[in-house]
Amino acid sequence: MNLHEFIAAAAARGWLLYVSRPVSAELELAAVAHALDGRPVLFSAVANPYHSAAGPARVLTGLAADRRHFALALGCAPDQILFRLAEAFARPQPAPQVAQGPCQEVIARPGDLTALPFLKHWPDDAGPYATAAIVILRDPDFGLNASFHRLLRLDDHRLAARLVERRGADTAWRKAAGDLPVAICIGLPLHVLLAASMAPAAGVSELDIAHALRPTPLVRCLTHDLLVPAEAEFVLEGRITHELAEEGPFVDLTETIDIARRQPVIEIDCITHRRDAIYHALLPGGLEHKLLMGMPKEPSIYAAVNEVARCRNVCITPGGASWLHAVVQIDKQAADEGEKAVLAAFRGHGSLKHVVIVDKDIDPFDPAQVEWAIATRFQAGRALHLLRDQPSSSLDPSATHTPGQKSRSDKMGLDATIPWDTAAGPAHPDHFRRLPLPEVAVGEYLEVQRATQET
Ligand SMILES: Cc1cc2nc3c(=O)[nH]c(=O)nc-3n(C[C@H](O)[C@H](O)[C@H](O)COP(=O)(O)O)c2cc1C
Repeated sequence: MNLHEFIAAAAARGWLLYVSRPVSAELELAAVAHALDGRPVLFSAVANPYHSAAGPARVLTGLAADRRHFALALGCAPDQILFRLAEAFARPQPAPQVAQGPCQEVIARPGDLTALPFLKHWPDDAGPYATAAIVILRDPDFGLNASFHRLLRLDDHRLAARLVERRGADTAWRKAAGDLPVAICIGLPLHVLLAASMAPAAGVSELDIAHALRPTPLVRCLTHDLLVPAEAEFVLEGRITHELAEEGPFVDLTETIDIARRQPVIEIDCITHRRDAIYHALLPGGLEHKLLMGMPKEPSIYAAVNEVARCRNVCITPGGASWLHAVVQIDKQAADEGEKAVLAAFRGHGSLKHVVIVDKDIDPFDPAQVEWAIATRFQAGRALHLLRDQPSSSLDPSATHTPGQKSRSDKMGLDATIPWDTAAGPAHPDHFRRLPLPEVAVGEYLEVQRATQET
């Protein structure tokens, strides 16, 4: 389901909002998208103050702002998304190469980056950024890698890319003696975005995970031999150089300002796009960012916990910026499985900071139920697991950040499962259960009210 098909399907379901009045790419669009966060919005007249000759552009925001959108794109129910992702993560399928694709209907060499509607989101940001861009490159040892990287536009042919240390793109770049060929895709199908935000083992291409989710034909670039999704709206072909430039400050996932750093410069040699291309802009720190960051980590937590216990479901919670907090639901079979699940969850998602383990009767997607389990089943002296000074997320302002090094933070796990005071299980499980009251047909009781309203 490419962007155009998603827009048609979202419109048919009444989800899509339209903004046809002129909106500026500098600060204004981000503010409107923020006010409409959670909904897909098609802006059809985006003004580009950075390029006087550029005509009004079409920009889509909110593509990934709701689990229902993912379910629509994957063709499953929302509570089944985790299992579709886990299956694709476990069994990637080689993505086929095709001769041509709509992403190359229009070709511009070298092309002009200022003609694209990069948005400036926050006044304190360093400048206009592409925030929904997938960077594709080839690691000499591990092959194709696809991942999200925020891209600051420096001028009409250069970008500064934020490469978090020791991830796939950073590792490949550090290995390259000279410039490393790169292809940047903007406006991708939702299943490709999901796959690109996963962190599979080295040697596994995110594009093969995408093809295991939904058909993902690839075409060869024009200026080098990288392969890109044929259904992309825009493809920027170029090279990551060893030149560094100031990147940041930038308001990122946690809606706090991320510091400026010296980051690699990408030079663009060719821009291709669909004839009727739509630019995808993702509001940093918005729901779309949070879901795309968090959801793809749920299968890797699920897989890690399943090695030590029966994992039923995983929710990376919005309250933890959809990155730093998770709730893991298990079907507990032994006294120590709560602690094992805590440690496994941290293995499954390296940036996780706090995790709560709950039993199968607690809905991990319902914060009130999770808090109830902590209130009624958890004792800090017995079930709190504290890990001091661990490798952590660079996006957590409270962590310790040393330039060029992995950030570090304390981590905490709460085992909020019913404690087992015998090897066979809890002596009095009913003491921990929420006792239901009998169901009643409440409508009958409301009859009186309807009568009142009529009079
Ligand atoms: C919306 C979004 C924005 C992201 N921005 C960045 C970024 O600017 N730099 C970065 O290194 N990772 C960023 N990430 C995370 C990577 O894409 C992600 O960790 C990926 O799994 C890295 O995979 P790799 O190690 O295979 O390259 C972002 C993820 C999402 C969903």
